[in-house]
Amino acid sequence: MKIAELRALEVIDSRARPTVRIVLRIENNQTFWGVAPAGASKGKREVKETRDGGKGFSALRVKNSCEEFNKKYAPLFKGVDAEEIQRLEGLLEKMLEEDVGGNFTIACSAALFKAAASCIGVPVWHLVQKTFADMFDELTPAKNSGRFPRPLMNFINGGVHAGIENDLQEHLVIFKRYNSISEALMDACMLHNHMKNKIKESFGREYTLLADEGGFVPPMKDVRERLDFILECASEIGIEEKIVLGLDCAASQFYDKKSDGYVLLGKKMSRSELVELYEDLASTYPLEYLEDGMAEDDLEGWRMLHGALSKKLSLVGDDLTTTDAEMIEKYGKTLINGVIIKPNQIGTTTRTLKAVKAAMGKGMVIVPSHRSGDSEDSFIADLAAGINADLVKFGAPARGERTCKYNRLIEIYEMEKEKR
Ligand code: PGA
Ligand code: ZN
Repeated sequence: MKIAELRALEVIDSRARPTVRIVLRIENNQTFWGVAPAGASKGKREVKETRDGGKGFSALRVKNSCEEFNKKYAPLFKGVDAEEIQRLEGLLEKMLEEDVGGNFTIACSAALFKAAASCIGVPVWHLVQKTFADMFDELTPAKNSGRFPRPLMNFINGGVHAGIENDLQEHLVIFKRYNSISEALMDACMLHNHMKNKIKESFGREYTLLADEGGFVPPMKDVRERLDFILECASEIGIEEKIVLGLDCAASQFYDKKSDGYVLLGKKMSRSELVELYEDLASTYPLEYLEDGMAEDDLEGWRMLHGALSKKLSLVGDDLTTTDAEMIEKYGKTLINGVIIKPNQIGTTTRTLKAVKAAMGKGMVIVPSHRSGDSEDSFIADLAAGINADLVKFGAPARGERTCKYNRLIEIYEMEKEKR
């Protein structure tokens, strides 16, 4: 089935900011779409976005950029067979070379995968799996083994997602010991509900408001107090044995270039003091996951961290690796043993799969992730299922732009069980 039209539209993301939606129409008039997410704590090496520029809110607009894209690039897709996903991804690659923003290419990529899967007559996750196999002559981990991605969910927010300076960004729970994705997610919801009631009782209703990724921001400025609170809530609903904890420190946000050290919640720290803090947390709490523990440019810090904790924790790169196969090759197993996969950091699904391949080659923990500014697009869930990832990080089980992704995973792993 040929592509009849592709068009970029300016739409709204979950943070009330403009973003790009690509709508693709095939010859029989069916339409498919993809929306670009946007980060707040971005890695420096992420592909650039194209926005209109100017001052204030205007700088975030994409209206003019969409018009330009529709004139110059959209016509290239007209008449191409929608099934030819690799050829179409090749067009996106050329666009990136010509400095088209990753927000445009990634929205295109999601729309193209959805259209191609429908034309071929398979679910989107299946096409992701097949594309990986075609690209590398290698299969992703089998689903029929009973393996499924464990939800890695954000319950307490800090840092830039909660408007707090020099802070750890995300306090996470891994729903580890479960037999199905839906059971894990229902316990996650129970925890979220319980936490909300407890916060309301202890601190007042205003603290039950949710941060960007659906986590709570209770008035606690100490990481231990936050982790204790999560564990207390989990224990009160009887799930403490089934969960472990994680942190996304987003340490680039509290790295202090001047002193070549860190300032965490008002306290100055050297890199070795920060590593000591993590060691202490790892020996006190059931902590298994530490993302961006050091700033992206602090390689010395990463080396220290790896030396101290790589046997005990998943040390995961996000800003450090930006879904770039080359960076994953470079740092995999020497500085990190896990990696965040965010397709909009690198611009296309094909490039994302190259990053996944590099991580698999090194036996790393693979974690597809949303962005703090996101939308009702659930393509990342299909990507996670297509590579049968170890963990998925889509935020709290609250707010529609997060739940659509978890709900899509439930659909894939529960309804399509027999096809696996
Ligand atoms: P971002 O944060 O989407 O705001 O970059 C998410 C993360 O750091 O994992
Ligand atoms: Zn992160």
